[in-house]
Order: sequence, then structure tokens, then C-alpha cells
Amino acid sequence: MPATILIGAQWGDEGKGRVADWLAAESDVVARYAGGDNAGHTIYVQGQVYKLHLIPSGILHSHVTCILGNGMVINPINLMKEIQSLQQAGVTVNPDNLQVSARAHLITPGHVALDAAAEADRGADKIGTTLRGIGPAYMDKTGRSGIRAGTMLDVEVYAQELEHHLLCVNEGLKSRGASIDVEQQGAASVAAAHFLRPYIKDTSRTLNEKLRAGARILCEGAQGTFLDVDHGDYPFVTSSSPTVGGALTGLGIGALSVDRVIGVAKAFSTRVGAGPMPTEMDEALSSRLRGTGENFWDEFGTTTRRPRRCGWLDLVTLRYATMINGFSELVLTKLDVLSGFESLQLATAYRIDDTEVDHIPVSTFEMLRAQPIYETVPGWSEAIDAVRTWSDLPQAAQHYIDRISTLVGVPIRTVSVGPERDQLVHR
Ligand code: IMP
Repeated sequence: MPATILIGAQWGDEGKGRVADWLAAESDVVARYAGGDNAGHTIYVQGQVYKLHLIPSGILHSHVTCILGNGMVINPINLMKEIQSLQQAGVTVNPDNLQVSARAHLITPGHVALDAAAEADRGADKIGTTLRGIGPAYMDKTGRSGIRAGTMLDVEVYAQELEHHLLCVNEGLKSRGASIDVEQQGAASVAAAHFLRPYIKDTSRTLNEKLRAGARILCEGAQGTFLDVDHGDYPFVTSSSPTVGGALTGLGIGALSVDRVIGVAKAFSTRVGAGPMPTEMDEALSSRLRGTGENFWDEFGTTTRRPRRCGWLDLVTLRYATMINGFSELVLTKLDVLSGFESLQLATAYRIDDTEVDHIPVSTFEMLRAQPIYETVPGWSEAIDAVRTWSDLPQAAQHYIDRISTLVGVPIRTVSVGPERDQLVHR
């Protein structure tokens, strides 16, 4: 039985968690392949809100095995806390249903401190990272000086490697007058290592054995295509590969095991952090889509609570995401938020320095100058959160979805109309 890859088609926060939660019901394994606790998935089940940063959404289904793949960077202290808080909420989490790749790299307190220092150094040009140590951890990985989760299996060796690493970081922080308490942070990390040891496995073998046995695997993406270190708006990106290739490398499975690549896009655009966003709205319109922050589904970052920048749906970016990832279908989320607009705008091309372009420019600096060219389509006034069948969606909503599907060239068979598990409409 083949695998499905779920990918954010925009700048993250597309609602992948709720889509993964839906698909997990028909999966045997849910595996995350990239990023770390910079991600935040909010899942709403029967009035209870679960906020996940590292553990795949599949954990809320008792039949599912969850995997944290080798492509991830994992803060062991935060992973331990996330497991414990799920356990306290009554969710079963144990080494039988959660495995952590021994090849995944660890985020240390040193990486977190270096992330903050690098952002401070960038001054006005800062990326607006989540300050979770993601960039420095991936730098150590590719620089071949990182610490992998498997090191925690021998806690003594891990303690020594960590101490050496933290002392090196302290050398680098000296000029800033900052330092890490090596003893205290070392002790906290060692405690987390003892806790996590039973979860650490060769997850590539697990996944391939499961595939051979006919299991259905869902590869759950974090972040989104335009935060990809290769294909996103570099340097306003994260340090991992949230796109399709990252799923294969980040889990150690072959391309031929995949038969479905699902892109998840919000019905409008949002972005947190700096970088280009051609369809960004003025604050009055933006705040209408964003909400007040009272509800967890309002447009405020799950990890940092920063207000998200909001804009009209950008089909130039969706076409690019479809090309890079080879989406077999798109799922559109948060369609309900667009109720009440008289008309809606879809960006179909950009104007850059008086030239009309229908694709993403290679240069991020050109992208920063891109002005959207819009097609205006009718809006709808009705609330649609109670709609469960396609034909009950207002005509204008059906037209909005069909127009996106036509202009992007990918079928849309599922839309979400609210945060609850059952607030999905299938065609
Ligand atoms: P980092 O991944 O913390 O290094 O942040 C790099 C950029 O990616 C920043 O603009 C962040 O706001 C953005 N980012 C990272 N993770 C997420 C996410 O899960 N959702 C949305 N934006 C994210």
C-alpha cells in the first residue's frame, strides 16, 4: 500500500494539522519529515484543543503509529514536555505508538541562544524566526558537527558531546556578553535523554517494513512550500525542505512508494515573519480575516502568537507549489472565513517593474516588488460552517473553488468550513 505526502502550498499555517487528522483516520502510520517545534498544529476534537509542535497529529488516533523522521530537528526537552502533556490529557503516547528517528538531529539550548543572537545581528533585516533554534541546528547538521538523537542512547556519551558543544557555543556568545549555564542545561537535557531513550529507533527501517506489510503511510509536512530553503523566498525561509523531496529524504522511503501528493492551501493567504507577500492586504481588511485572537483558529501563530499577515489568495504561488511538488490534488481550508465579502480577489499574475509575469521570479528581491494582478469573483453572504455537502455550498463559493482549480490546474475535492473534525465538505 503506498504513501501519501501532505504539503503546505503557501507559507505554512495552511491547516495541515486538521487535514492530517482527517487522513490519519484511514492511515496506519503518520510520519513527520522536516522542521522542528517551529511548527504548530492545532487540532480541535469534540471541544478539546490539542496544540502539537513536534508529534504528528495522528497521535490522536489510537490505531496510528507516529514517527518523527530523520529530516527533523528535535528539541529533546520540548519533546519530553509535549509527550507528558498529551499523556496528562489522557492521550496514549508510548514507545509502541511513537518512534523518534535515531538519525534526527537535536536542537540544544545552544542552538536556541544562537538563533536569538543571529536575529539580533540581522537588525532591520531579520527573518522573524520562531527563535526555536531551527537554523543553527540545521547548520550544525550540514556542517557535520550536530548531535543526533541516537547519541542519547548512550547517555554518558551524549552528556560529553553536549557539554563540548555548549562550551563552544559559549565561546561564540562571549562577545555578546551572553552565556548558557552548561551544568544546568546539561542536566535538563540528560534528564530528557533518559526519558526519550525508549522512543529512539531506526525509523526508516520501521517505515519500509510497514510499507512492505501493506501499511498506509501519511507523510505529514510542516511549514510550507514558500518557506522551503531551496524553493521558498530565500533568505526569508526556514532551514529545512518542507516540499516533496524533503519527505523522501526526511523519512528514508523511496519515490515509488508514493501515490498521492496533497497540497493544503488556505482559501486566502497568510504569512508570519518577514519576506515577500504580493497579495498582502491593508490592515483594515487584514484584521477582518485575522480575527481578534480570542479563538485558536484566528490568524495568530500557534508557536509564537504573532499576528499573521493576511492577503487575497495568490494563484501564482499555488501554481508554483503545484509544479514543485506535483500535487495530485489540493485541499482548501478556512473557506468559511470568506463569508460576507461582496467580492473576492484572486491573483492570477504579477506586475514587476512594468512587466507582467505569470510565474514566481527567481530573485526574492524582484518578488518583493511584485504587484498582484487580480481577477475579481463574486463573494457570498451566507455562513457556511454548517454545510456538509457540496451542493449546499453557495453557488459563488462553488465558483470560487472551481476557478482556483481551473487556474491552478489541480482538482479540489475537499474544503474545510470550520475547525471541528466533521467540518469538511467532500465533492
Ligand atoms: P524558523 O523556522 O524558526 O527559522 O523561521 C524561519 C521563517 O519561517 C520565519 O518567517 C517563521 O515565521 C517561518 N516559520 C517557521 N515555521 C513556521 C510555521 O510552522 N508556520 C508558519 N511560519 C513558520
